[in-house]
Amino acid sequence: MPDRIDQDSIGRHYADWFTTGLRGIGMRYVFSRRGLWVINTPYRRILAAARIDARDRVLDLGCGIGNLLIALSERIAFTQPAIGVDVSPALIELGRRELHRAGFDGRVELRVAFATELPFEDQSFDVVISSHVIKHLDDDALLRAFAEVHRVLRPNGRFLIWEFKKSPFSAPLFISARASGLPPAFILRDPNTLARQLQTVGFQAVDRVATGIFLLPPVPRLALLARR
Ligand SMILES: C[S@@+](CC[C@H](N)C(=O)[O-])C[C@H]1O[C@@H](n2cnc3c(N)ncnc32)[C@H](O)[C@@H]1O
Repeated sequence: MPDRIDQDSIGRHYADWFTTGLRGIGMRYVFSRRGLWVINTPYRRILAAARIDARDRVLDLGCGIGNLLIALSERIAFTQPAIGVDVSPALIELGRRELHRAGFDGRVELRVAFATELPFEDQSFDVVISSHVIKHLDDDALLRAFAEVHRVLRPNGRFLIWEFKKSPFSAPLFISARASGLPPAFILRDPNTLARQLQTVGFQAVDRVATGIFLLPPVPRLALLARR
């Protein structure tokens, strides 16, 4: 497990992963709106925990190519654009093209930003979601990112995270990562550790959310809903 993770290098790694050859085509599919059933199978069930409605201003932290925001905006006619941020300029560019193709220009906005430095005013969002991102943050960056989410959320705002869970059953992930050298650096954590870190930065209540089954990779996830 790495102690330090460089956020820029994670972004570059994802850019290579998404843009090179056949693998890039596969990655762009599984991380697109159409591929959500593969990589994020129970996403609707998890998102339901945040009770998002049309008046909510929503931020997706580590949005990749915008898959979850497109899926949400297909079901909810948001009164203000949903916003996604990601550390990778290449993924944001791919995501903007994806939004254009899907007819969501102006309804979803994507920007380049570090999870640890959100370019938004205090108390300007009702909901922040983050799927499969926090494993790429080292302990220091994770606390800074949680503090940033707390800062940009309005009072009673909700922060919904899901991620691979540290557990004996996550071993396949470590083994395949070591064997392939493919995934960017990551750290898995257990839900209690994450809940404590969320409370450290000021979140009032942190509840576990049942995730359901993910198809790929078939390793356990955790989901937490924190309230500001
Ligand atoms: C596994 S992908 C998940 C994408 C999307 N959230 C999903 O669930 O399909 C992880 C994403 O987190 C982004 N990411 C990693 N570290 C980040 C950081 N420090 N700040 C912002 N984005 C980050 C990566 O660039 C990548 O797009």
